[in-house]
Amino acid sequence: MYGLVNQAVADLVRSTFGEDAWSEIAEKADADEEYLPMDPYPDAVTYRLVAAVSAHAEAEPAAGLESFGEHWTRFTGREGYGSLFDQTGRTVREFVGNLNRLHAQVKLGFPELTPPRFDVLDREDGSFELRYYSEREGLAPMVVGLLRGIGQHTAEVVEVSQVGHRADDGHDTFIVRARPV
Ligand code: HEM
Repeated sequence: MYGLVNQAVADLVRSTFGEDAWSEIAEKADADEEYLPMDPYPDAVTYRLVAAVSAHAEAEPAAGLESFGEHWTRFTGREGYGSLFDQTGRTVREFVGNLNRLHAQVKLGFPELTPPRFDVLDREDGSFELRYYSEREGLAPMVVGLLRGIGQHTAEVVEVSQVGHRADDGHDTFIVRARPV
């Protein structure tokens, strides 16, 4: 993944546990401490970093990924993508409907991007079904954190439950309900 992602992991660790913890985690993950945002790195580096962060926090890997997803929305909002966020949607529902376009826009600057794809289906009770397609394994918990993070931008409380797993049907399925704080 692009170095921007690893920078976001570093930023989360530094702001939560401090600089020394980041050095320790990078060493345990057999990874560099610094990354260039626009350079692609092997996915394995990101996976090792996230696993080492979870171990450091004595959290389950899924919880680590969820925190990372939530942090990604803060980090990209600060790192020059704030206006892209504002254009993408004023509600979580609107935002997820534009996620494929958001990544298409991002790909203009990151040509080797392998973005996820999302399909959204509205339900009668006001919630919606979100289908997440990825070439990568195991990132569903990150999507949960990302949805909560979008809610922080749109001032909504987000309830998410995963109802389908890749192993069953090739994509992850979530039921999402967002309501104003
Ligand atoms: C302006 C904000 C955003 C930027 C700049 C951005 C950019 C990126 C980048 C650089 C990657 C790594 C992919 C690669 O290197 O091949 C990525 C992956 C990903 N993004 Fe975004 N993204 C943004 C917002 C979001 C949001 C709000 C979501 C919410 C669901 C999201 C969902 C994901 C997921 C799930 C991945 C993991 C890759 C995969 O599933 O294969 N992104 N994004």
